[in-house]
Amino acid sequence: MKSIEQYYVPWVKGIPMYVSGHIELAWRQPELHRMMSNENPNEPSPKVLEAIVNYAKKANRYPDQGLVVRSKIAEINGLDGPENVLLGNGSSEVFDNIFRTFLQPGEEVIQHTPCFGIYKLRGEILGGKLVSVPMIYKDQKELAYDPDGILNAITDKTKIIVIANPNNPTGNFMDAEAFVRIAETGIPFIADEAYVEYAGLKMSQVPLTKKYKNVLVTRTLSKAYGLAGLRFGYAMGDKDVIGQISAALIPWNVGTIPMWAALAALEDTEGLAMRVKFNNEQVDFIQESLSDIPGLNIFKSHANYILFDGGGAGKKGKDMVAFAQERGIILRPESAKYGSDGWFRVTIGTREENQMVVKVIHEFFNQ
Ligand SMILES: Cc1ncc(COP(=O)(O)O)c(C=O)c1O
Repeated sequence: MKSIEQYYVPWVKGIPMYVSGHIELAWRQPELHRMMSNENPNEPSPKVLEAIVNYAKKANRYPDQGLVVRSKIAEINGLDGPENVLLGNGSSEVFDNIFRTFLQPGEEVIQHTPCFGIYKLRGEILGGKLVSVPMIYKDQKELAYDPDGILNAITDKTKIIVIANPNNPTGNFMDAEAFVRIAETGIPFIADEAYVEYAGLKMSQVPLTKKYKNVLVTRTLSKAYGLAGLRFGYAMGDKDVIGQISAALIPWNVGTIPMWAALAALEDTEGLAMRVKFNNEQVDFIQESLSDIPGLNIFKSHANYILFDGGGAGKKGKDMVAFAQERGIILRPESAKYGSDGWFRVTIGTREENQMVVKVIHEFFNQ
């Protein structure tokens, strides 16, 4: 008899299950301050909670295709209608569906690094190869996008290019003109706008989807809308392309409760404005409060996290993370890069948590 191992698809064999240790830890120890996963520190708005309760009562029924919430998303973004919008169980699932549509084993996905890890995870499950183009560390101050580097990395095997805008963890935007240059290649091109609401939809690349069929824009309600646990994300694009990608969707992939809660969140423009204002003020507070630490490079962020490089102060990021954790705060470690091992990332927390983190970072760098 053959062993089960021999039946595993070769590129899936040996890939470990994805577990976020920090998130597991935070749920097990709720007294810890979660400043590591770019969650929103504010609980969902009362309107969202009301929708959750209302639609929980209909949880005995299968969901529909989400025409109402898809129409609302189209309206907000100036698109023709629901056929331009695809829903996912978080934008992580949306990437999975897009990748399934375009990527075969041995083919390549181009990403910019440092960046969010999901593109690698979902690409590798399909046997794809990840091609990482490093951002440019300019004058040890700013991590800049490198559109020429991305264009130069294109080969016959390139089937997807994905750019987070703003980027996680750097918090900056790529120039609009660079989006056009990459769109012009005709290669499926995803602009991941998970955090765009913090800067406003004027920064969105969604208008490009009208001119370029190969451009797709993804979003999530996990960040500015504060609904990470609900799992609701979406993609926008040309209706034929969205229709084809939808063929890869698992039937009823998004439940009734997330769909109607998402609609309530999208309609609650005041709730969003309040969350965005709070976040952006707190980003400024943290950035300004830490600007007096010599050798600590603080990356100007347009999102709900801030990247730091303490290498110039002779400090290690992993020591900073351990120091904070001993004081009850979970931060996000970052791998060594650009000749420095001083990197770490802080997610905006509550007002009290942000004051606490400023104090702890000062203490660490003053040692
Ligand atoms: C750049 C980026 N895109 C997408 C996501 C995933 O969000 P979702 O919760 O919608 O799967 C994240 C989450 O941290 C992210 O940083």
